[in-house]
Amino acid sequence: MTVKRFCDNLTVSSDILGEQLKFRNGKLAQNRFLKAALTERVSTYDPENPQKHGLPTEFILNLYDKWGHGKFGTILTGNVLVDPVSVFLKIFSIIVFIQTNLESAGNAIIFKEGDGEERRALFSKWAKNMKQDGALAVVQLSHGGRQTPITVEPNPWSASDVKLSGERRFTAFGQPVPLTVEQIKTQVVDRFVYAAKFAHETGFDGVELHGAHGYLLAQFTSPTTNKRTDQYGGSIENRQRIILEIYDAIRAEIPASTGFLVGIKTNSVEFQEQGTTVDDAKEMCQVYEDKGFDFVELSGGTYEKLAFHHMRDSTRNREAFFLEFAEKIRPVFKNTIVYLTGGFRTVKAMVEAIENGATQGIGLGRPITAEPDLPKKILEGSVASSIKNALDENDFGITNLASNTQMQQMGRNSYQQASEK
Ligand SMILES: Cc1cc2nc3c(=O)[nH]c(=O)nc-3n(C[C@H](O)[C@H](O)[C@H](O)COP(=O)(O)O)c2cc1C
Repeated sequence: MTVKRFCDNLTVSSDILGEQLKFRNGKLAQNRFLKAALTERVSTYDPENPQKHGLPTEFILNLYDKWGHGKFGTILTGNVLVDPVSVFLKIFSIIVFIQTNLESAGNAIIFKEGDGEERRALFSKWAKNMKQDGALAVVQLSHGGRQTPITVEPNPWSASDVKLSGERRFTAFGQPVPLTVEQIKTQVVDRFVYAAKFAHETGFDGVELHGAHGYLLAQFTSPTTNKRTDQYGGSIENRQRIILEIYDAIRAEIPASTGFLVGIKTNSVEFQEQGTTVDDAKEMCQVYEDKGFDFVELSGGTYEKLAFHHMRDSTRNREAFFLEFAEKIRPVFKNTIVYLTGGFRTVKAMVEAIENGATQGIGLGRPITAEPDLPKKILEGSVASSIKNALDENDFGITNLASNTQMQQMGRNSYQQASEK
């Protein structure tokens, strides 16, 4: 069957994309491709039973069995949540859950109340499937904060009490409750650290903190959502504090010498009034570089202002949505590896972004739900771009839905079963 692609003729060599990336802690990625985080939403959902809540399913294992044969340098999970149960009370022997901060029902979750052999075995299998052809396996650790759907939690945590306006992905959002300083430690920092240790112990090569797209950590760094007047609000230094505390606490448990990666996905821009600007992002990235982060993945936008399309004509020809922001930020990175995600479709644009110095690694999201082995094909020189479907590329809603559907299809059988068909 012939498929339509963005570009049919390979006019540049893809060799540079096959080059290894060496992280500052010595770990090697076999090439420059990053499978971006794509929320799967097919884990178990049972908030009344911690042991059965947020467990990865066969479906996820099948999905990553396929990406695990796609020749990525690094594979990220979809967001894995760290806070399913913030307050956990036992009243007359009945367990009452008061807070649960997911990105969606069906997220995979790592939390101490749900620890056990079954969860550990499933996460270990997940990591193993991701690493089958040499990729590094990295868990994206996330906390929904005010972007938790109202059906999951009417009063989620946030930096401040700024409610998200409107609806996204057919869901509304509740009135957030600002975390106290004590809760920042016990309900956020400690939970991220616990999840990182769990990931390390179950065979993953690292974690990526989700500090982008308006989730909890971005609610702290962005002035649109952080109105605090204590040590976690005001200056950039204060707004970034929670992330650095998480980093330090993870490194106290899992030192860089173990080879375990700690990275962050961060917004290069938010396109919102009072939102993170590229200058803010540059200042924050300088701190990540100085702190010792192994990698930074640059992205942009929030639920209130989605940015997974071309906001400016200047980026259209160069494909990557955040390219011009990445170019401004890039000079701060000396030892931290930088990935750029969003919009890459042709080998030519990927190669140029690297040659021009905007990024070292290429993150791919929607193209690899249509074609889980796209990096392999590109590195073999057999394709010049990703598949072009009939949908409007600039419509995130519809292309997101298409990716979800493709993931549903991919998860139905294993790599082996699909190959035998
Ligand atoms: C179905 C879908 C799920 C996504 N889930 C996540 C997620 O869990 N975490 C995240 O950081 N980004 C998520 N994203 C954003 C992607 O990682 C990526 O940044 C975005 O799709 C732009 O890249 P692309 O143009 O290559 O698709 C998701 C995107 C899609 C389409």
